[in-house]
Amino acid sequence: MDTVKKEIERLKKEKNAVILAHYYVNDEVQEIADYIGDSYYLAKLAKTVDAKTIVFCGVSFMGESAKILNPEKTILMPDMSADCPMAHMAEAEKIQEMREMYDDLAVVCYINSTAELKCLSDVCVTSSNAVKIVKSLPNKNIFFIPDENLGRYVAEQVPEKNVILNDGFCHVHISVTADNVKAIKEKYPNALVLAHPECKNEVLALADYIGSTSGIIDYASKSDNTEFIICTESGVGYKLREQNPDKKFYFAGTKHFCPNMKLNTLEKVLRVLETGENAVEVSEEKRRNSLAPLDRMLELGK
Ligand code: 13P
Ligand code: SF4
Repeated sequence: MDTVKKEIERLKKEKNAVILAHYYVNDEVQEIADYIGDSYYLAKLAKTVDAKTIVFCGVSFMGESAKILNPEKTILMPDMSADCPMAHMAEAEKIQEMREMYDDLAVVCYINSTAELKCLSDVCVTSSNAVKIVKSLPNKNIFFIPDENLGRYVAEQVPEKNVILNDGFCHVHISVTADNVKAIKEKYPNALVLAHPECKNEVLALADYIGSTSGIIDYASKSDNTEFIICTESGVGYKLREQNPDKKFYFAGTKHFCPNMKLNTLEKVLRVLETGENAVEVSEEKRRNSLAPLDRMLELGK
């Protein structure tokens, strides 16, 4: 394994490349990454990082967004089949129907979406800026796509808006139930519950903190509490444990693994650095149309 890591280091320098990784990828990949973060941090970083090539260890909507924001950079994905099923869970016809129904509609698109859906949207958001951005929009009527749970959470935080929900979901997050959380809480009554807003309402109702992956890591690291019940994907455990070796983290549920994120391995990182294969391509027309909502997110999220 050490030879693989050394070779990755050497090729990074030779090819002026950096490795970006989401908190959900395998520990071994987070270990060699130059930058690790949530979706918002990684999207912003892809725009400013000084490198010719970015190896993006995440899922396809992340690599695609990085390419849309940086057409001049080469974006390599360790595994092209790493896709987020939720990214496809909204329909063009439904968006059109909503636009016809409401004159002032804003289509707010979670960044976990295909470029095709972004093209049909007014603004993108991530879990760390969705509330702030929806609040700042002049529109009263909001169609939130694709994730229903994040949409409902935003609706509750911004009651002055009429947020229309779509029925997309993340199979990893909805696998966590209130009973899972309660069972751990019974064993560790002092543990605080930290949940990602993609979780079901019944789980969010039990949470002491709701936020993005980086929000959850920050909260646990700054808290004086020493025990936490984590309601999100297992990969955040790497940073949680690294930053808090004396604290205890209990993951709720039994299916909190995103199989797509786990497709990123050290061997695949090495392979794309060696060969230059798996470069993300986005047609110029699609890029132009999906850039506006992403740029608007970066502006409103500041
Ligand atoms: P974050 O933006 O919180 O990192 O979430 C990304 C994601 O895919 C959640 O399932
Ligand atoms: Fe998509 Fe869920 Fe995996 Fe995040 S955890 S990439 S939302 S499937």
